[in-house]
Amino acid sequence: MSSNHYSENQLRKYSLKLDKIPKLNYNDPKVDEYISSNEPVVIQGCDLVASANSWDLDYLKRKMMGKYTVILSQNHKFKYHDEKKIQSCKTDFKPTTRRVQMKFSEFVDKIKNWKKNDERLYLQQVLDNSVGISIVQDFVKFNWNWITEKQIKNNWGSLTSNLLLVSMEGNVTPCHYDEQQNFYAQVKGYKRIILFRPSQFKCLYPHPVYHPYDRQSQVDFEKPDYNRFPNFKDACGFETVLEPGEVLYIPMYWFHHVESLLRGGYTISINFWYKAGPTGQIVYPLKDYQKVAIMRNVEKMLNDALRDSTEVGTLLKTIVDGRYFE
Ligand code: OGA
Ligand code: FE
Repeated sequence: MSSNHYSENQLRKYSLKLDKIPKLNYNDPKVDEYISSNEPVVIQGCDLVASANSWDLDYLKRKMMGKYTVILSQNHKFKYHDEKKIQSCKTDFKPTTRRVQMKFSEFVDKIKNWKKNDERLYLQQVLDNSVGISIVQDFVKFNWNWITEKQIKNNWGSLTSNLLLVSMEGNVTPCHYDEQQNFYAQVKGYKRIILFRPSQFKCLYPHPVYHPYDRQSQVDFEKPDYNRFPNFKDACGFETVLEPGEVLYIPMYWFHHVESLLRGGYTISINFWYKAGPTGQIVYPLKDYQKVAIMRNVEKMLNDALRDSTEVGTLLKTIVDGRYFE
């Protein structure tokens, strides 16, 4: 493609085999085939968040008068951690990010005056009533007809939340998976998103379920430790650079890595998280994401039974070593 509004050197470099995620017009019947088979696709022209086209830092600063959740990071990586799992995790855990509440105007001032070596900022605020009447009015005008049709057609559960993501250029959300379906809508700027199938679990080594970094890959994509994570050499994924107006379907349990382009300015995105539909008739062989769900349950069960996270691995190894594998 020649009409890209960004250049290759705005993308961080990783040694990964990546195919492109297809981009299709919303009225292309193949869109529904991708969604119903839990395969990612970029959808163009659906105007999901067209009513947010006026959103920029200046507009949001005038309309959002409360305090909002901002993540601060010592570097460009914003690896999510579950606060609730810090206590129960026996290994000592030092988060590299912290979550604060801040006025939108303060957030804007901080990113406008940001200098190298300052903490980086990433606003991640649920779109609830705290965002103010104007933003709620734009929210009500999202293309709910389009998205609700997808929700119903695919028998998904309810919409759980919409996250407003306002990022500095160069910020990275490292590789992780979520247990929900996600329509990820780009409003401003460009985001490069790398996806991996749930079957890439072996190559991506997510942290144990009890760990605060549950669902996050242990592999640092910028400096992979191939001794600890040898299968990462075989990781293969899909990527896209999401442009304003485009919507990426991120299927549940698919790993994703998100980065705002280098030297691309700030970005604004809005996600739509939906609960998985009811399980219904179980069909064999199971899908890869269903196997990930089973593995999670086994880990949880052992951790609850043993009441000591450090014993889970040894017990699992005892089950397997010399019995299921030579
Ligand atoms: C998500 C997600 C991270 C980001 O929407 O599930 O991981 O940086 N977003 O946008
Ligand atoms: Fe996510």
